[in-house]
Amino acid sequence: MSSATPDRTGRSTPRIVLDCDPGHDDAVAIVAAARFTELLGITTVAGNVPLERTTYNARVLRDLLDLDAEVHSGADRPLVVEAADASYVHGESGLDGADLPVPTRPLDGTDAVGFIIDTCGAHDDVWLVPTGPLTNIALALRAAPDLVDRIAGISLMGGGRFGNRTPVAEFNIWADPDAAAIVFDSGARLVMTGLDVTHRFQATPARIDEVAALDGRLAEVLTGLFHFFADNYVARHDGLDGAPVHDPLAVLVLTHPELFTTVPRHVAVETHGTLTRGMTVIDERRQRDRPAPTCEVVTSVDADAAWALVVDAIAASTR
Ligand code: BDR
Ligand code: CA
Repeated sequence: MSSATPDRTGRSTPRIVLDCDPGHDDAVAIVAAARFTELLGITTVAGNVPLERTTYNARVLRDLLDLDAEVHSGADRPLVVEAADASYVHGESGLDGADLPVPTRPLDGTDAVGFIIDTCGAHDDVWLVPTGPLTNIALALRAAPDLVDRIAGISLMGGGRFGNRTPVAEFNIWADPDAAAIVFDSGARLVMTGLDVTHRFQATPARIDEVAALDGRLAEVLTGLFHFFADNYVARHDGLDGAPVHDPLAVLVLTHPELFTTVPRHVAVETHGTLTRGMTVIDERRQRDRPAPTCEVVTSVDADAAWALVVDAIAASTR
């Protein structure tokens, strides 16, 4: 449960709350968090599929990993816009492609926002790691503005220099742009891992074979999930060899920062644009009167090394 290098606050094992909408790649984020972080809890949000199902899926992963972490469900819809899921990516269950065990441990609570606030109050230097729409995080920041100074930061998967849900908007930001704007304007320390990086971290056939070669139920489930995810992505895109495994990078950028590069940038979220709703507007200008940076924008990942960590995390959890 330790990483070789200090995280962005100097901890060798960062404390995190993972806020997610599993989701194939969210499932991998949970696996990575279980291995490399002090996982204080998992909170769920509506996103890839409705809340009831993202919560169920988080409980499935908790059982597969035999985790102590509590699971709390949160927002079942975005702050303002209509709810719209991504079942076209993840299937109706959110985790299509594997025969999932029925979770046995009950849900610990239905107030994810309260859980986030209480957990960040009880522990120093907590990183919030959202890998779905930012609804729960925005509600927590709104209810407890002092969180901004209390937490270590927010490492999110979302946004980037191109879109997937629209030409310029990534799904997590597009799905709740008003929540995203609250988070990006909050003043919290932000690390943004966007599509331009996650698309360079793909579950290719050779990489999936590495998981398939592992023993145990978790590896078997993840092999099925990776095959579904990759087949779906390859069928729906030109020029992809597999599925971008977006979400674990928001964990690994904290635990293994040496595998990533970042640049400080001012980032704002477009909430109203007819063509640009959900766009993360990254200020790349060089003039000296540009606004001060608000975010560490991740610009590259050592994909082979990051994949080796994913395989290691699965192997370590395989019983
Ligand atoms: C993001 O959207 C979801 O479908 C994935 O789980 C990931 O968090 C990528 O755009
Ligand atoms: Ca996700």
